[in-house]
Amino acid sequence: EKGGFEHFMLKEIHEQPKAYRDTMRGRIDESGKKVVLPELKLTKEQIKGISKVQIIACGTAYHAGLIGRHAIESLVRIPVETDVASEYRYRSPIVTPDTLVIVVSQSGETADTLAALREAHSHGAHVLAITNVVGSSIARDADDVIVTLAGPEIAVASTKAYTSQLIAFYLLSLYLAEVRGTQSPEEIARFIAAMQALPEQLESMLAKPDAIKAYAEQISKHEHLFFIGRGLDYAVVQEGSLKLKEISYIHSEAYAAGELKHGTLALIEEGIPVIALATQEAVLEKTVSNIKEVSARGADIMAITHEEHVASLLKSVHQAFAIPKTLPLLTPALSVVPMQLLSYYASLARGNDVDKPRNLAKSVTVE
Ligand code: M6R
Repeated sequence: EKGGFEHFMLKEIHEQPKAYRDTMRGRIDESGKKVVLPELKLTKEQIKGISKVQIIACGTAYHAGLIGRHAIESLVRIPVETDVASEYRYRSPIVTPDTLVIVVSQSGETADTLAALREAHSHGAHVLAITNVVGSSIARDADDVIVTLAGPEIAVASTKAYTSQLIAFYLLSLYLAEVRGTQSPEEIARFIAAMQALPEQLESMLAKPDAIKAYAEQISKHEHLFFIGRGLDYAVVQEGSLKLKEISYIHSEAYAAGELKHGTLALIEEGIPVIALATQEAVLEKTVSNIKEVSARGADIMAITHEEHVASLLKSVHQAFAIPKTLPLLTPALSVVPMQLLSYYASLARGNDVDKPRNLAKSVTVE
């Protein structure tokens, strides 16, 4: 049942290229230049009238929503708010009938996300669900559903569901961009071509886990560590940090790199591991200066970046790991993979039950 893998989590990490292909299949037209989402009831008129988007979810699905926000804001230029469901439902959110509410849930059964969906409905909003389970409560209650075709996810730690949610967000953003005319057909075609290359790029990463495995064994001996990044990298390290806590039980914090000197820098001392995700060219120089700040305080830094920056980064970091290059907005679909492998191998090195971490359930159907 684990297809030759030692754990469901590792199997599911390796199923991601297939999950990407399956989630894209039938949603890109034959010319390869347009996204088609025949399942949507949301009309073009409604799409043109959307004044804001709210993305609501829990845990890892919320982290996918953070990437969704970047995608919608940059491709469609509609303001997006993101919220964890347990906060949203109790804060009297401002929702109008021209708000598009997107709920994200692998299981489609998370109690707080379902309650948030109902709260949004009570204000007359159109609710679109991104879920992995067709007949789930959330899928049934939502006005629209984009199903991620990741296949069943057994490990408590979510991996392929998260990355398939990213694919769903990219497809949706491109579709909205086309309807609202915010991206040219050439831009959309370029984006689609880059998306179609992701599964192979992912396969090439999965074929070489050794460097990450060795680093995971190193960090498994620590009790605290930090993740830093800016922009999309910050969103991805939040997921990396959650994954690591969840299954390795190592305490970690993900920080927006620019926030370090507003307090957290005080915690950086000799030998503390810092994982710096530095893939976003537009803010790379800024991230590098933050890397130098922690390096000067003796942190043991691992940078995850693109090949062309490895040599210069190695002046300030101890180790660097290169990931394949894609469009900046699509990079999370690749850069999260070293994070997943890191937590998997750290958990393994600590002798934990990787697929069933203590205190946690796969589906949180109680509040
Ligand atoms: O089924 P859902 O996507 O609604 O679940 C949400 C979270 O409970 C879930 O993503 C959780 O954070 C994962 N165990 C993280 O790996």
